[in-house]
Amino acid sequence: RILILDFGSQYTQLIARRVREAGVYCELHPHDMGASAIREFAPSGVILSGGHQSVHQDATPRADPLVFDLGVPVLGICYGMQTMAAQLGGNVAPAAHREYGYAQVRARGHSRLLRDIEDHTSPEGYGLLDVWMSHGDRVEALPAGFQVIAETANAPLAGIADEERRFYGVQFHPEVTHTRQGQRIIERFIHEICGCGRLWTPGNIIEDSIAKVRDQVGSDAVLLGLSGGVDSSVVAALLHRAIGSQLTCVFVDNGLLRLGEGDQVMSTFARHMGVRVIRVDAEDRFLGRLKGVTDPEQKRKIIGNTFIEVFDDEASKLANVQWLAQGTIYPDVIESAGAKSGKATVIKSHHNVGGLPEEMNLKLVEPLRELFKDEVRKIGVELGLPSEMVYRHPFPGPGLGVRILGEVHKEDAITLRKADHIFIEELRRADLYDQVSQAFAVFLPIRSVGVVGDNRQYAHVIALRAVETLDFMTARWAHLPYDFLDLVCRRIVNEVPGVSRVVYDITGKPPGTIEWE
Ligand code: XMP
Repeated sequence: RILILDFGSQYTQLIARRVREAGVYCELHPHDMGASAIREFAPSGVILSGGHQSVHQDATPRADPLVFDLGVPVLGICYGMQTMAAQLGGNVAPAAHREYGYAQVRARGHSRLLRDIEDHTSPEGYGLLDVWMSHGDRVEALPAGFQVIAETANAPLAGIADEERRFYGVQFHPEVTHTRQGQRIIERFIHEICGCGRLWTPGNIIEDSIAKVRDQVGSDAVLLGLSGGVDSSVVAALLHRAIGSQLTCVFVDNGLLRLGEGDQVMSTFARHMGVRVIRVDAEDRFLGRLKGVTDPEQKRKIIGNTFIEVFDDEASKLANVQWLAQGTIYPDVIESAGAKSGKATVIKSHHNVGGLPEEMNLKLVEPLRELFKDEVRKIGVELGLPSEMVYRHPFPGPGLGVRILGEVHKEDAITLRKADHIFIEELRRADLYDQVSQAFAVFLPIRSVGVVGDNRQYAHVIALRAVETLDFMTARWAHLPYDFLDLVCRRIVNEVPGVSRVVYDITGKPPGTIEWE
């Protein structure tokens, strides 16, 4: 396993993703992780991430010196290379020019790290790499034992190595996709230099998690709130395999789900997999609470609180439950750890419906805590969940509650469900579903005049939204083909009573958010 020490770069999570993609387990920890914790982790190799600070200033972050005494390989990236150089007796100073963006690196000699990895060959026979740089400082003097393995015009020491101790440093960022050979460089380090095998595969992850869960809960009973979303679905499938009938799921139908969603959840889990699922029909309770409420934040709060109430009621009917399972995944863990220690580079507000019914006194079991989203999806497929479910677009906890603008009425939810279903069905049919990150319909509580058949209609408006994004923090509206939009619009106006007009949202994020409320 690989230990990654985080010096605060926005790319640190990417390093972990790359290492995992290469089939090797790794964990991300703050740069000031202490010696005893490092020793206990017993890494086969250490990666020091980039960071935005300057090594030559006083009181900037350093790795615990133990990192260099463990006898395992170390790879320093950007700031990580600079701190390694500084900690081992080299010299780092501000560069005359900041380097930011594409650069071409010339690989010198025959370092184990970069040997035979190149994008081009220079006329003199050197390997050339197209890389992504982002730094203001540079290493000026090598520590004892080190050699130069790569250079750019602006950074004569763009890559350094002490082959004997297996310490490597690169000034560029191999973890970003702009560095075309980045994955190979990382794989070279972890597979060949650290000697880690490709053991982190979906099959092994499942086996490993099953063993851990069994060990953790023993013969106790476990409760899970199943929403039909990816994370809770995978937890259900995994726990079912691990502990079978000790698991009970509660699925709350809040009346704000997509067309047929409740039945799908029941058929996948209860009928096909044999999971014990209690379906609670709470539509009236939710819609009753939402009556007369128009403020979006207020609606969110009410939906969240009502969920907890309903879930709590069901849980209290079950005797002898000791554990509550949750679909927390690794990015949530990293973010909340970062937020707590003030070291977060990316702070995203979590707005999941739910939360812990506190007075229930349940212990937590979180079998996905170490996994990234793509890993969760892979093990979901491996556990036999339909890939349609596993690769579904995200759906907000408050559901259609934030897609029916203003006050939520039951008949508007029915209208919206039909329109949304047509949009999604056509996206799948046109093979566009997987090309957009999220797509849905929004119900606008205004009326517009239209003509349907021979009749003048004064009816509601449906807005379609489709976005492309990697992180959902920023997004671009999807440039769907006009003919496709035309088809969807015709179907909605013809097939959904009470809709006379369809519009397409062409607002990016920012300035818009993805949801309308
Ligand atoms: P926004 O609208 O903030 O959405 O651009 C970003 C992503 O978050 C989802 N979203 C939510 N998810 N509870 C959730 O669980 C919420 O209250 C909520 N609001 C937005 C949204 O669907 C998008 O994927």
